[in-house]
Amino acid sequence: WPVFAPYIHAINRLKKERGAVILAHNYQTPEIFHCVADITGDSLQLARDATRVDAEIIVQCGVHFMAETSKLLNPQKTVLIPDGLAGCSLSESITGADVRALKERYPGVPVVTYVNTSADVKAETDICCTSSNAVAVVDSLESDTVLCIPDEYLAMNVAKKTNKKILTWKGHCEVHERFTAEELLEYKAADPSIEIVAHPECHPSVLAVSDYAGSTSGMIDYVKTKRPGRVLLVTECSMASNIQAEVPDVNFVKPCNLCPHMKRITLPKILDSLLFMTEEVLVDPAIADRARLAVERMVNLKQ
Ligand code: 13P
Ligand code: SF4
Repeated sequence: WPVFAPYIHAINRLKKERGAVILAHNYQTPEIFHCVADITGDSLQLARDATRVDAEIIVQCGVHFMAETSKLLNPQKTVLIPDGLAGCSLSESITGADVRALKERYPGVPVVTYVNTSADVKAETDICCTSSNAVAVVDSLESDTVLCIPDEYLAMNVAKKTNKKILTWKGHCEVHERFTAEELLEYKAADPSIEIVAHPECHPSVLAVSDYAGSTSGMIDYVKTKRPGRVLLVTECSMASNIQAEVPDVNFVKPCNLCPHMKRITLPKILDSLLFMTEEVLVDPAIADRARLAVERMVNLKQ
């Protein structure tokens, strides 16, 4: 990638000079994922790793709620996001005031909030979850009924794996809600050997026709271990590009759905971020302590 080389070189040099670490989500583009990231992973891994980094500066290559989570866990460190407009349709689907209204409507029902939310929402929450631990988090609670918000489909998928009654919200991931069981069955009809590996933000009817469902890292591990001849990753399509080199024997079928928010992060913006120390992610101190508790409860949950 000759066009990227000067950026990669400059970012890696500046990163060392500044003593910064780059955390990148599995949906980042290959030149970020492979050439400048120090740590890659799914939301839970990135949150856990954020508690272990020594560096004083964290550059979060992902969406805003991920950077906010890193800041909550590292209040003394500088957390930068190369584009502060990198949002998330799930995060935007609910506010702290909405959660307060839900708690009034369902008094005493514990609230599990997906990490894909703002700190304001997390502050109203008993415990956070990600796609990789949602069932374990729900089952860790005493109550027979649990509010699992804001992702309706994740909540429906969790409901299938727990005995608890799950109440939810109407938030959806704009990338995963586009996949349908019908289109996946057409792929299967054309080639019955194809394996379908889906993210739990998809509708339950999509998971019903899938061979495996799990977090982004769960999906990667499945492909690396199982080595299907042909596989369809029902998720953001940078993932397949990121792991293709490690599994040259696997043929990825790509119905390409990109997350426009994740794609806001680019090498030039990462370089600017390190050069000018922008955009710094700050969390209102009035909500930070309560939001941090919800994230820490999740990170510390024994699984
Ligand atoms: P993971 O926690 O599985 O990485 O998912 C994050 C996300 O935003 C998926 O759309
Ligand atoms: Fe949010 Fe969906 Fe993008 Fe993930 S893929 S950041 S859930 S909009």
